[in-house]
Amino acid sequence: MSEFGFGQMIEKLKKDPKSIVFTEGNDPRILEAASRLLAANFLRPILLGNKEEVEAVAEREGYNIRGAEIIDPENYEKMDEMVAEFCELRKKKGVTPEQARDILSHGNYFGTMLVKMGLADSLLGGATYSTADTVRPALQLLKTKPGNSIVSSCFILVRPSATGDPEVLAMSDCAINIKPNEDELVEIAAETANCAKIFGVDPRVAFLSYSTLGSGKGEDVDKMRNAAAKAKEKYPDLPIEGELQFDAAVSPRVAETKCPGSKVAGRANTFIFPDINAGNIGYKIAQRLGNFDAYGPILLGLNGSINDLSRGCNALEVYSMAIITAALA
Ligand SMILES: CC(C)(COP(=O)(O)OP(=O)(O)OC[C@H]1O[C@@H](n2cnc3c(N)ncnc32)[C@H](O)[C@@H]1OP(=O)(O)O)[C@@H](O)C(=O)NCCC(=O)NCCS
Repeated sequence: MSEFGFGQMIEKLKKDPKSIVFTEGNDPRILEAASRLLAANFLRPILLGNKEEVEAVAEREGYNIRGAEIIDPENYEKMDEMVAEFCELRKKKGVTPEQARDILSHGNYFGTMLVKMGLADSLLGGATYSTADTVRPALQLLKTKPGNSIVSSCFILVRPSATGDPEVLAMSDCAINIKPNEDELVEIAAETANCAKIFGVDPRVAFLSYSTLGSGKGEDVDKMRNAAAKAKEKYPDLPIEGELQFDAAVSPRVAETKCPGSKVAGRANTFIFPDINAGNIGYKIAQRLGNFDAYGPILLGLNGSINDLSRGCNALEVYSMAIITAALA
């Protein structure tokens, strides 16, 4: 794992260790990451699942999880309290206590309620749950932060460089909002720029399109141009450009021809995609063909620290995402 940004996050956690719920407590990748986190002693893992089962998998795979808290949703002492709070939170939906009990037998909802009730600081799920199944409980129960209208997400992409400092980029929204509108794109850009700063990036934001400053026509071109204009007006201190094609965003030579004089074109490091198709494909191209390590999706605008893993994740990715998730709590 590249050390960018992690040193500071680990220092922060050492001073103020946080707890983190793993919704898939008996997954070997989670257990390997939990054993490393326990040995490092700056995070308190809470593993969800049947205690005997979790311990048996850890023993079989050779991971020492002594010191981890294991909670079984099927056998939880404060379940009545949790059911009552769940029903209150979802009362507009008319959820009955029986339905709540059934929903809370699932780790994704149960773990999210632990965070909501202040019994855990953060949560990482998705080793087996889909993104939608990990994120939906958070959207329903934690909701957006005051002042935000949506939850969105970004990926932080990191590639070692020959000069020493790794190359760090931010891309969004590659995982949550399927077709964000202009105002949502403005919010996504602001949240992504703030997240990029946490990872040591001085954000220069490009609103991406298949057109550069009017070279192409179409609804999506207008959307990105208008969103960039609104973002510039709302955040005058943030370097923003758009609409830009990807080459004009990153190549100084192309930028000189297509967008001369821009502070962002040719050196953008924070990329706002028009929709989830472009974003999801885009970050995976950087990851698979550009040799960037991808950290995320990191949820933005959520009133709590919950993140989603890729189902194809390995233990190292779980370990890194756990540090990011807890440090952002
Ligand atoms: C995020 C996602 C799961 C939400 O879908 P959903 O559960 O069908 O959403 P619903 O419209 O039923 O909304 C569920 C709740 O979440 C809220 N919500 C949905 N999207 C939201 C958003 N972007 N921000 C904040 N709240 C949101 C809704 O208001 C609703 O709240 P309520 O139940 O209190 O009324 C959906 O947008 C999605 O599937 N996105 C793509 C995920 C994906 O496949 N990513 C690619 C892999 S990384």
